[in-house]
Parts: sequence; C-alpha cells; structure tokens
Amino acid sequence: MIAKLLDFLDIDAETRALASRLSDLLSPRVNDVIDEFYSKVDGSRISPHVNAGTVATLKVKQKRHWMALLHSRFDDEYFDSIRRIGMRHRDIDLSPMWYVAGYMRLKLSFVEIIIRSDLPAVTKGQFIKTLDKYIAIDMALAMSTYDAVIVD
Ligand code: HEM
Repeated sequence: MIAKLLDFLDIDAETRALASRLSDLLSPRVNDVIDEFYSKVDGSRISPHVNAGTVATLKVKQKRHWMALLHSRFDDEYFDSIRRIGMRHRDIDLSPMWYVAGYMRLKLSFVEIIIRSDLPAVTKGQFIKTLDKYIAIDMALAMSTYDAVIVD
C-alpha cells in the first residue's frame, strides 16, 4: 500500500533529496514550531490529555517524528511508527477533525519558515510541494490506521 501511495503522490528520489534539504532548513526552528503548537492546543482545550504533565514528552516525540519523516525510507520502521501514532490518537479519542486541523497548523508554521528564507522562489516552491507530499502520506496513513482500528 505504501508503494502505491508513494507512486500516486510522486514521491521519487528527487522528492526525497528535497525532503532531506528541507529538514536542514526546518530543524533549527522545529522546537519553536512545536512549542507554539502545544501552547495553542493546550490553550484551546482540545484534549485533556495535553497538559502540563504530558506536554514535555509530547514535544520530544513530535520533534522526533518530523525529523524521522523528512528522512524516511518509508520502510517497516516508519509504518510501525505511523500506525502507533494513529492508535495513540484513537485511544485518546482525538477526532479526525482535530488531527487534520492540528496538522494544518503545523504545516502553516513550516510554510512560513520556507517563505521567509533567503532561498530562490523556485526552491521555496519545491520545498512547499515536498512538505505537502510528506504530510499527505503521513496524515493518510495515520488516519487509515484510525479507521482500521475503529472498524476492527
Ligand atoms: C490537536 C491535535 C492533536 C492533539 C490534541 C494531540 C494529542 C496527543 C496526545 C495526548 C498524545 C499522547 C497519547 C498517549 O500516548 O497517551 C499524542 C501523541 C502523539 N502525537 Fe499527537 N495530537 C495532535 C495532533 C498531532 C499531529 C498533527 C501530529 C503530527 C505528526 C502528532 C504527533 C504525535 C506523536 C508523534 C505522538 C507520539 C506517539 C507515540 O507515542 O509514539 N499529533 N498526541
């Protein structure tokens, strides 16, 4: 299934090389993006599971996930990790609505970093397209795990 999705989204060798370069641009700022994300999630009272006792661990896990995603070989390790993420969110009753909205918020913060960089316009466009492809595959797989677990 992953192979079909990778082909459908045109995630090829060039896209993977771009993702690795994108990670170099985003990694110095990822802590800020994730801090801002969890303070918004906490302040919006979306889930009682995001609280002062859990947020430090969530930040570490989420940062690790983004960096692993941008360097992913889309192998079993990645598949197991995205399956676990889907199941964790299902376990805390996080609706797909909040999962998608949360994902878009993170994406907008990363897009802002790309736009404000000194890179040529074409590279910015390539980075944004690459980010979109990676988010599409990650979100699609996490949410299908969600469905599968609910149906089971
Ligand atoms: C409003 C949206 C979200 C909320 C409220 C939320 C909340 C949570 C909570 C409470 C957990 C811990 C579950 C547990 O182990 O008991 C968790 C795990 C996690 N979340 Fe989210 N989440 C949201 C969106 C996202 C998004 C968009 C991502 C994007 C990648 C993400 C990545 C993760 C990761 C990597 C874990 C750790 C999974 C593991 O233990 O391996 N979350 N989330």
